[in-house]
Parts: sequence; C-alpha cells; structure tokens
Amino acid sequence: MITNITLTTKEKFLLEDSKSHEEQCIKKYSNYTSLASDDQLKAVFRSNGQKEQEHLETINQLLTGKIPSMNNMGGGSQQQTQQQSQQQSQQTGSSNFSTSDKDLCMDMLTTEKYISGAYDTAIFEFRDAQIRDILNHIQKEEQKHGEAIFMYMESKGMYQAK
Ligand SMILES: [Fe+2]
Ligand SMILES: [Fe+2]
Repeated sequence: MITNITLTTKEKFLLEDSKSHEEQCIKKYSNYTSLASDDQLKAVFRSNGQKEQEHLETINQLLTGKIPSMNNMGGGSQQQTQQQSQQQSQQTGSSNFSTSDKDLCMDMLTTEKYISGAYDTAIFEFRDAQIRDILNHIQKEEQKHGEAIFMYMESKGMYQAK
C-alpha cells in the first residue's frame, strides 16, 4: 500500500540532498568496481552499489510524495553475498594488497560515514514517522556498507585497528 504525503520545503531540500548523495555513491561504486584489482573487493563494491540503487529509488519515490512500504525495500540476498565474500577473505587472510585498492576502500569508508551522518541529521527534521523509519532503514544499510568495507580491509591487513 502506498500513502501520499505533502512534504515541507525543508523536507524536500533534505531529500534532494540525499538523492545527490546516493547518485554520487552509485557512480563511485560503479567506477571503483572497475578500478579495484581484487575480485573480492569488486564483489563488495558491486553489492554495496546495488543497495545504493535501491536507496535512490526509495528517495525518488519519497520526493514524489509517495511513501513506499518497508516490505518492498529489498531483501537480504545481497547481504548474503557480502557475508560470503567476507568469509572468503577471512579464509585467505593474506596481507598482499594493492595500495590503490586500499585507497579506494578508504575513500568509500569516508563517503559512507559522511552519508550515514547526513541521514542521521535529516531524520530529525521529518514529521512523518513512516518516513523516519524508512530513512533509518537506509541509514542502517549505509552502516552495513561501511562494515563490509572495514571487514574486507581488516581481513587483508589494510586496516590496523588500535
Ligand atoms: Fe545509500
Ligand atoms: Fe552506502
């Protein structure tokens, strides 16, 4: 079921911001999937990028005043792919990695962190509880993207947590 709502100027402005963040993210993941030299990293980037595409579609729906149902917002199949690639990389456990792959990871971590923060701020401005839930759901997925990249980096010895 789809509910129609009228957005305030501020809400529209925030959603336009999210829209451009998601578009930027899709572009980066697509470019970085090509640039990455490790197939495991390509898989992580590709899987995250697919989620960003779903986010963009959700934001576009909200911008037209429609609230998509939470049930239609994608399942866990991509999450499974992520977990699989994480397990694979944990098994390999080597610390041979390309410096440019590390740079791509660092850049995407920063991007995800920024976007997650932007959602966190935006959520407080929305009057509608359903929209808050949807944005919260998206934000949680941004954190998962960061987590997938972090796990990959750690398994490759790129990231020394102190
Ligand atoms: Fe996203
Ligand atoms: Fe993300």
